[in-house]
Amino acid sequence: MNHDPPASSTAARRYFENAATSFPKPPGVAEAVGHYLTDIGVSAGRGAYHEAVESGRMLDECRQLLRRVFHADARDHVIFALNGTDALNLAVKSLCKPSAHVVTTAMDHNSVLRPLHALHDRLGVEITIIAADSRTTRIDPADVAAAIRPNTTLVAINHASNVTGALQPAADIADICKKRGVPMLLDAAQSAGHVPIDFSSLPIDLLATPGHKGLLGPLGTGVLLIRAGFEARMQTVREGGTGSASEFPVQPDFLPDRFEAGSHNAVGLAGLAASLRWIVQHGVDALRRHEVQLCERMMSRLIAIPGLTWYGPRDVERRVGVFSVRIDGLEPSELSAILESRFNILSRSGLHCAPLAHRTIGTHARGGTTRLSFGPLLKEDDIDYAADALFEIAGALAAVS
Ligand SMILES: Cc1ncc(COP(=O)(O)O)c(C=O)c1O
Repeated sequence: MNHDPPASSTAARRYFENAATSFPKPPGVAEAVGHYLTDIGVSAGRGAYHEAVESGRMLDECRQLLRRVFHADARDHVIFALNGTDALNLAVKSLCKPSAHVVTTAMDHNSVLRPLHALHDRLGVEITIIAADSRTTRIDPADVAAAIRPNTTLVAINHASNVTGALQPAADIADICKKRGVPMLLDAAQSAGHVPIDFSSLPIDLLATPGHKGLLGPLGTGVLLIRAGFEARMQTVREGGTGSASEFPVQPDFLPDRFEAGSHNAVGLAGLAASLRWIVQHGVDALRRHEVQLCERMMSRLIAIPGLTWYGPRDVERRVGVFSVRIDGLEPSELSAILESRFNILSRSGLHCAPLAHRTIGTHARGGTTRLSFGPLLKEDDIDYAADALFEIAGALAAVS
């Protein structure tokens, strides 16, 4: 197949890799980052001068906005992290002692699986990985209930898959965990910001999310929400300067300082505060409606493409805008290359840091899939453009074969 760019290659590039990080960011984010770098610039809590106070005020506003988006309780229980992986590491490692047992799922990302494997190797932590249905890629809550043991320390669940877009029955699993007295961690990396999550009523103890995907902030931001009181069960995993209680040799026992050692990424968090303002202004419910519309359109187009397989839930209410596809006769890496070179579409091929999810759908040993993932600034026209491109590529291959 001809890989040369078509005449239209000067047309705008269409970014379908929002599951990795969202782009473009909404209006106001770049300006907030620029304003911070130009006019504030300093480290929050590290001085009493005006700029340091302003920086602290901005961090405070960012925490308030996160509380608002997730209906979270105490502001001090909003902990800033470096990315989703960092927030998940803090959650998992703060709870696991030798001989602990953790339940997770085959749909989870390496940012959960790898810390757990490291804890297994270092401390002997036992892991149970629940299989998902190979078609819907959803977990049966009954399997979680059956996996819980007397020494289960944590149930760590992926909310929305970064491979198939499947939304897991988080509320049902959380109810089980609550009844059994087992803490639950929700990895909301692919749902936060566009799927409504009510931390005040969902009985989970921890929620981890990057700030740079669906929350639309800059790279280098992440968040861990801790249920008020639950911090008593957590150990620190990183210690250092906080600009507070400096006379003591140990980490302060109050939040957020206890879990926020070292200088903040205030530049990134200024951008995150701006993107959160944009999300609050538009409303998570409206952003979800937009996502559902885009998903419906994509699904209605994908089913009509001969030779194309796509994975995950067919029920739009049970998925987010993450689509994994394969076209007969093409490696996923070739498909991504053609999408970029001929159509200016940016996608991602491979295993997407979720090897067990690819085992679930049977693509692990076949180069994975090509993933197209949505963001709130995409329009129906972008979905049509991507679907037309897939149709054209699949049609050309069918003609050749
Ligand atoms: C489901 C899931 N969890 C966690 C992460 C890790 O987030 P980050 O890239 O911010 O470390 C990702 C990233 O793709 C993800 O898709």
